Amino acid sequence: MSSSMATQLQGKVAFITGAGRGIGAGIASVLASRGALVAVCDVDGSAAQETADHINTAGGRAIAGAVDVTEPDSLQPFTSRAIAELGDIDICVPNAGVIGGKGFATRKDFTKQDWDMTFAVNVHGVANTVDSVKQQMMTREQGKIVIIASHGGRKPRGVADRARGSAQQPYAVSKAAAIQYTHFLAMELGAYNINVNAVCPGRLWTPMWEAIAINHKELDPAFADMTPHEIFIEQIKATMPLGRPQTPEDIGKTVAFLASDDSSEITGQAINVNGGAIFS
Ligand SMILES: NC(=O)c1ccc[n+]([C@@H]2O[C@H](COP(=O)([O-])OP(=O)(O)OC[C@H]3O[C@@H](n4cnc5c(N)ncnc54)[C@H](O)[C@@H]3O)[C@@H](O)[C@H]2O)c1
Repeated sequence: MSSSMATQLQGKVAFITGAGRGIGAGIASVLASRGALVAVCDVDGSAAQETADHINTAGGRAIAGAVDVTEPDSLQPFTSRAIAELGDIDICVPNAGVIGGKGFATRKDFTKQDWDMTFAVNVHGVANTVDSVKQQMMTREQGKIVIIASHGGRKPRGVADRARGSAQQPYAVSKAAAIQYTHFLAMELGAYNINVNAVCPGRLWTPMWEAIAINHKELDPAFADMTPHEIFIEQIKATMPLGRPQTPEDIGKTVAFLASDDSSEITGQAINVNGGAIFS
């Protein structure tokens, strides 16, 4: 890494939800490697602690907390602790997300539980997270909010979604809501010099995509003889010009750019980091 990269976010304080594993852990590591002090939280507090330990061992500075983003009362104590221990929050990354309710992977169709869970975490959880940091950003007239949405929140993929993706419908609609929330929040906070953007990841091999692959097996006999990981790779080859999965670090690098001064004129945008997969 060049020295300018190492200092890209020097001394900035970043707040990241769902950072116990997967994309959130990758974002936290990249931001820390570029000089940010990071407050990482997850509904699984010990997983968040592992992420923080990893960053601290690597020479960064991180604190961890157990936070359920669906509960504003759960967020507030950790936000206050982050400000007290690290300083005012400059960067907020609502990343926590769920693909569906309990048992999603082995169901052929979505249920009310999938609607409730995806909207509670992927929509209300994002807004709760922003609400917990927004006022101090407005007072200081500076801030970067980077919401982790999904390219699945863009448009249905037609035949493929009809055949295989039906159980993911609540998830896709919740991610579309997160993108529209990004637009509205950018309008609201622009006058306070706060940038609000979304990153739309494509396909990453995390526990979330493993559940999706198991669900594909459930929905489509064509996948019967394939392992979940083979299904993941096949889907990537079929849809992504670059032909490879994205990594948590790939998402973290785009978040770092949107959290830096290099992107000060970018707001209200949702950026696909999806190997060129086209949703039309
Ligand atoms: N994996 C992909 O291919 C992919 C693609 C597009 C978008 N995304 C999005 O990226 C984000 C991270 O996905 P991931 O693949 O790392 O998922 P993951 O399931 O591996 O990790 C999600 C993390 O969020 C935490 N979490 C869940 N509910 C929470 C809550 N109520 N409060 C706090 N934390 C909670 C989980 O404990 C977990 O640590 C999600 O918003 C997801 O929708 C993922």
